[in-house]
Amino acid sequence: MSNVKKILKIVISLLLAGIVVTVLAAGAVYWQSSDRLAQKYTVVVKPAPVHPVDAAALARGRHLAETRGCVECHGADYGGAKVVDDPAMGRLHGPNLTRGHGGLPADFTDADWERAIRHGVARDGRGLFLMPSTDYARFTTQDMSDLIAHLKSVPPVNRDRVPLSVGPVARTLLLAGKIKLAADEIDHKTLAPSDVVPGVTVAYGQYLAASCTGCHGATLAGGRIDIGPPDWPPASNLTPHASGRLAKWSEADFMKTLRTSRRPDGSELNPVMPRVFANLTDVETRALWAYLQTLPPLATGSR
Ligand code: HEC
Ligand code: HEC
Repeated sequence: MSNVKKILKIVISLLLAGIVVTVLAAGAVYWQSSDRLAQKYTVVVKPAPVHPVDAAALARGRHLAETRGCVECHGADYGGAKVVDDPAMGRLHGPNLTRGHGGLPADFTDADWERAIRHGVARDGRGLFLMPSTDYARFTTQDMSDLIAHLKSVPPVNRDRVPLSVGPVARTLLLAGKIKLAADEIDHKTLAPSDVVPGVTVAYGQYLAASCTGCHGATLAGGRIDIGPPDWPPASNLTPHASGRLAKWSEADFMKTLRTSRRPDGSELNPVMPRVFANLTDVETRALWAYLQTLPPLATGSR
């Protein structure tokens, strides 16, 4: 055999070995992540006291669904919507939450609602993927009761459920701990609803800021959003630090920015910053501002 042939043979065997190793590694990621996705969580749902369901309760529930992200992922008609559809991340659709064809089963109870929303756990005990229950875990019993009442009142929509398919990059991020299941983050045993009372207070602002930490970080100092694709801009610094903008803003500037998606200097916010917060009430927006004022000033990105 000539030297060239020998070298070729070695190169081909190395390539083949490389392919085998890659296939095995991909198989291991797939197998381990499937195990994680199938893991069961035991959650004892304490049935929330049922508050009277009147027109005001339904309106409050609707406001919650429209401003806390539910409609963005489950559709404006709650019949299900695409969240991510991409070969790397997977086909991730918010399921149909109505009683129409393809929606929730007829015997879906209030405890099932609460288990999904507060704990991030499906009826069969599986941890829900992508569903941001860490934001909702501490909903007051009033908010939870109003929200469930509203969701149960929406008209049925017939739309088939798109089966969840988690892509290879999302699986790798899951195993690396960059994508977390809410069911893992929440301490199901000690979880207690918040007892905060709505009003322009720091405490109510802190309660509402649970909707902001997913992107702006636990410290609200902003920076790179882990779950986002590479083209997402970093989240802004919401603490009163000189490296951010809010240190120089007034409450009116903050309200106007949330309502119009334009900063006081006229620049428009990137669409990654959800537009639904424009619909927060004056009380909610002012409470958020009051809370942000109390944050320790941190340099942008120190999350
Ligand atoms: C970022 C997107 C996103 C947001 C925001 C979101 N969800 Fe979900 N939700 C999902 C996805 C995706 C699933 C399915 C996950 C799975 O099957 O693993 C889901 C599952 C659920 C389920 C369980 C359905 C079932 O068949 O068991 C309920 C109930 C639910 N969501 C209600 C809500 C409510 C109420 C809100 C707002 C307070 C909300 N979701 C906000 C994405 C989202
Ligand atoms: C889905 C991710 C996401 C969520 C959730 C989110 N934000 Fe943002 N936000 C962003 C991003 C990204 C920017 C930067 C936009 C840009 O660069 O144009 C931003 C910018 C802002 C700004 C402009 C500040 C500045 O200096 O540019 C304010 C104010 C703001 N967010 C407040 C909030 C509040 C309050 C909440 C919770 C009620 C919240 N955001 C929730 C992603 C998010």
